Amino acid sequence: MEERLKALQAEAEAALRAVGSEQELAEVRARYLGRKGTLREIRQSIGTLAEEERPLVGQWCNQVQKALDAVVEQISAALAAGKLASAQAEETVDVTLPGRMPRVGHEHPLLATMEDLVAIFLGLGFQVAEGPEVENYHYGFEALNYPDDHPAMDEQMTFYIDDDVLLRSQTSTVQIRVMESQAPPVRVVVPGRCFRRDTVDATHSHTFHQIEGLLVDEGVTMADLRGTLEAFAHGLYGQDCHVRFRPDFFPFTEPSAEIALTCTMCHGAGCKVCSRTGYLEVGGCGMVDPNVLQAVGYDSERYTGYAFGMGVERLTMLRHGIDDIRLLYSGDMRFLGQF
Ligand code: DAH
Repeated sequence: MEERLKALQAEAEAALRAVGSEQELAEVRARYLGRKGTLREIRQSIGTLAEEERPLVGQWCNQVQKALDAVVEQISAALAAGKLASAQAEETVDVTLPGRMPRVGHEHPLLATMEDLVAIFLGLGFQVAEGPEVENYHYGFEALNYPDDHPAMDEQMTFYIDDDVLLRSQTSTVQIRVMESQAPPVRVVVPGRCFRRDTVDATHSHTFHQIEGLLVDEGVTMADLRGTLEAFAHGLYGQDCHVRFRPDFFPFTEPSAEIALTCTMCHGAGCKVCSRTGYLEVGGCGMVDPNVLQAVGYDSERYTGYAFGMGVERLTMLRHGIDDIRLLYSGDMRFLGQF
């Protein structure tokens, strides 16, 4: 019997030490030490033994029970500790791993250019004015001295909401609103969104941005206009950037000029982008037509003024060498991430 108990103890201990989980431990424990376990069976058989053997076998059983209970306790503690350790391991921060960088946002290149433009003109003493993107015919065309049959008013070129209400096709509309709301002198720039029925391609977009300038005071000349635009060009593109004026026509300015700047791709040498001219057109300008001043109640004998309007998309594209306007509206992070 002693042999049998020793073999049982050895077998049970080996089985207990081999378990991998608390559930397995409970199973093995039940098999050897449980109510229907092997040790219990042996105890129950004590009654069948010779009288003098019984106390001794009972003692051996107790010893085996005690030894195996100790092993169970030990294994159980080890399993609990292991569980804790693995839980901790899961939570541990490995400070040697490269961190996960949060993506830092920044201004869209179009807005960044707009803000730089505004900063340059604020530095020259201009104030910022804004006006509605939905305008009526009066501000859109009439007050800007457009003749009745001007093609810009055509449905082919302008988005109409009804006969009188339209999406502004230029920020020049705000010139009128500003002059109606104040007496001269006026010195404002108007950054803003405009809309035209243009078919979208690499250089056209139905929605785009302009920056408008208007200065009205006594004794203002075209030389002032030129000087202001040169200061702007130097501020945005550097001292090597020249402003070229060529005669143009706009209903609300007389005389009018096209504004072109030194090509930023070839620095004036002549390339494919500037059609070998060394210059790129960025907008229009001129001396405010006396008709416009009179229509808002300004004394056109006493006051003169200049105005200009430039495309912000164009200025942005020249600045960064962007060759397709659609990229600016694509929302493509591979493009936007470069600025
Ligand atoms: N509004 C004109 C356009 O969209 C640009 C322009 C030309 C603005 C002459 C002006 C100006 O203020 O004087 O083509």
